[in-house]
Amino acid sequence: MHLETRAVHAGNDVDPGTGAVRRPIVTANSYALPEDPSELDWSGTATRLYTRNGGANQGWLEDKLVALEDPNGVSEGGCAAVALASGVAALHAVFFTFLRSGDHVVSSDVTYVATHRLLTELLPDRWGITATLVDTSDPQAVRAAMRPRTRLVHVETPANPTTRITDVDAVAAVAHEHGALCSVDATFATPVLQRPLERGADLVVHSLTKYVNGHGDAMGGAVLGRRELVDRIRGDAMVDAGGVISPFNAWLIARGAITLPMRMRAHCANALAVAEFLDADPRIAYVAYPGLASHPQHELAARTLDGGFGGMLAFALDGPPELQNRFVAALEVITSAVSLGHDESLVVHVGAGGEGRAAHFPEPFRRYGHLRLSVGLEDPRDLVADIARALDAVC
Ligand SMILES: Cc1ncc(COP(=O)(O)O)c(C=O)c1O
Repeated sequence: MHLETRAVHAGNDVDPGTGAVRRPIVTANSYALPEDPSELDWSGTATRLYTRNGGANQGWLEDKLVALEDPNGVSEGGCAAVALASGVAALHAVFFTFLRSGDHVVSSDVTYVATHRLLTELLPDRWGITATLVDTSDPQAVRAAMRPRTRLVHVETPANPTTRITDVDAVAAVAHEHGALCSVDATFATPVLQRPLERGADLVVHSLTKYVNGHGDAMGGAVLGRRELVDRIRGDAMVDAGGVISPFNAWLIARGAITLPMRMRAHCANALAVAEFLDADPRIAYVAYPGLASHPQHELAARTLDGGFGGMLAFALDGPPELQNRFVAALEVITSAVSLGHDESLVVHVGAGGEGRAAHFPEPFRRYGHLRLSVGLEDPRDLVADIARALDAVC
């Protein structure tokens, strides 16, 4: 079945208790035990026992995610998903499950801020797990960074906030040559634009808080991959480390995901219209959007993303930080807030940032800082008019 059909039907069914045609919200945190529970494994996930071992709404959401992420069944032994409390819980679950003290990770040098801190501060300080950060858009750089103890190559594509694109096929091949796993944070792309498991990745991570839910009213995260890998995450990082998703959030996200394919198409079209407008305006210092011919990986993005370039872009006005702030304050339709992938457009001003993570950003990001714009589902003419009005007001 086609993507839209899967998004509507997967994970939903008639509720056997009531005959309702929608799955209910099951808030109970415990489930009826078998007649003899005395030998049950309390860390197990095979029997529904307790919501931290896997709840009903979580399971239905996972069914929908699998139908979207691996429709052609490329995962050996079947694809599975584990839904967790947030995108960061999902990233942590991957690192926690597959890395040991002394292990090494090769990661994209530009990743979401919490990923960066996990890999450069928290995991090295606590467990002696080290990471080499490289520009993963260059597979040779990934190859050169591999070490005997490299267990994982972690890629974020498109990267937050630079929108850099990595060739997942090439990087997964390098990881596998060295016996490492390849995980891809595909939060910006969603399964509508790219399915990394079909491109050789072992694990795909999503912040469900963003596009998959799409309405800015729930938090969640997921990891998908071969069942054998996902079961390890479920047992280690969910049941006994506890990053489980709440039933209500799982229900909200499953409902939001129904419209993901059509929303992503609108996000892509709107973002392209906004990016083209910004690109043509001399008051704008730079625009980073994979759909523009000026983007360094435009050709790779066109070849490896399906039917659009995403809803995320970054740009800056040609001027100091206070000009960026005045511009944001002058916007009337676009809201100043963190997060992304919501129905409404969101913008956040991030300063040039100095050392650490920001040192890996391209030159104009380091010079001007950036305005990260999550282009929403409003009419693009209203978004462009809002930006034009704010530019006129402050420039
Ligand atoms: C690419 C990416 N991955 C992961 C996350 C973390 O997701 P969450 O906020 O749901 O923990 C974010 C959040 O912005 C993100 O942009």
